[in-house]
Amino acid sequence: MYGMKSISNMVFILASLALSNQTFAEAAPETNKGKGDAAKGQQIATQVCAACHNPDGNSVIPTNPSLAGQHAEYITKQLENFKSQDGKPAERESPVMGAMVAPLSAEDMKNLGAYYTQQIPRSGGAKDKSLAQQGEKIYRGGNLESGLPACAGCHSPNGVGIPPSYPRLAGQHSEYVAAQLRAFRTDQRTKDPNNEMHMIASRMSEKEIQAVSEFISGLR
Ligand code: HEC
Ligand code: HEC
Repeated sequence: MYGMKSISNMVFILASLALSNQTFAEAAPETNKGKGDAAKGQQIATQVCAACHNPDGNSVIPTNPSLAGQHAEYITKQLENFKSQDGKPAERESPVMGAMVAPLSAEDMKNLGAYYTQQIPRSGGAKDKSLAQQGEKIYRGGNLESGLPACAGCHSPNGVGIPPSYPRLAGQHSEYVAAQLRAFRTDQRTKDPNNEMHMIASRMSEKEIQAVSEFISGLR
């Protein structure tokens, strides 16, 4: 079963890479500047993104983030950040997503944000209850000793985030969350020195990363 799925994913990826120099938005309509068009976003999501993020954005692969219910502005910003401009390294480095965003126009990115934000997030569940309990303390109270602020302050007590800047975290895969915290720590994610997450991740121990990630995966 798993093998079949991987093979069909591979075919999907190859097919989408072949589409690389085709842009999805035909004439970008001047009238559609504000909010994105969810129906147009859905077309791209189904054709290209579904292989890794599931058709409704509830990813079933722990290293691939769930996108369902995420804020539209945040999704659009991340897609922009994955794109490398003028040969410079992308703001957010990811070989996979770098290839995915290459053919997308600014309009496509807005449309994709509009689509995913409308999808209902499916909540997961923490696998390790005692680790999640340690994580909850960090999430709600931070760590006074290391000067780590509480995550809840920006990502909200129930993890839904605060649009447009603070993303939703509730129910996100723990493997993905931990990988992002490590990427912020090493500046592999966001070259912006003012991004709060650099300071935050640099104050976290590996144990704290694992605990808070486990808690977040079960948060709803
Ligand atoms: C081959 C698998 C694959 C495909 C296809 C794919 N993605 Fe991704 N996506 C990933 C992975 C892996 C990451 C995590 C990258 C990282 O570690 O920074 C990611 C991250 C993202 C993020 C960041 C989410 C967050 O919470 O910050 C967005 C947004 C996203 N993808 C949207 C898309 C869209 C839109 C498409 C289709 C155009 C797409 N992806 C296609 C694998 C994929
Ligand atoms: C001062 C506000 C602030 C605090 C406090 C904060 N964050 Fe964040 N966080 C942000 C911002 C802003 C972003 C978006 C960064 C970007 O645009 O790439 C973010 C992004 C993230 C992401 C990436 C989400 C994704 O979908 O890829 C994770 C994971 C995260 N934060 C975890 C945490 C954890 C865990 C804590 C507590 C230890 C925390 N944050 C505390 C502001 C904050």
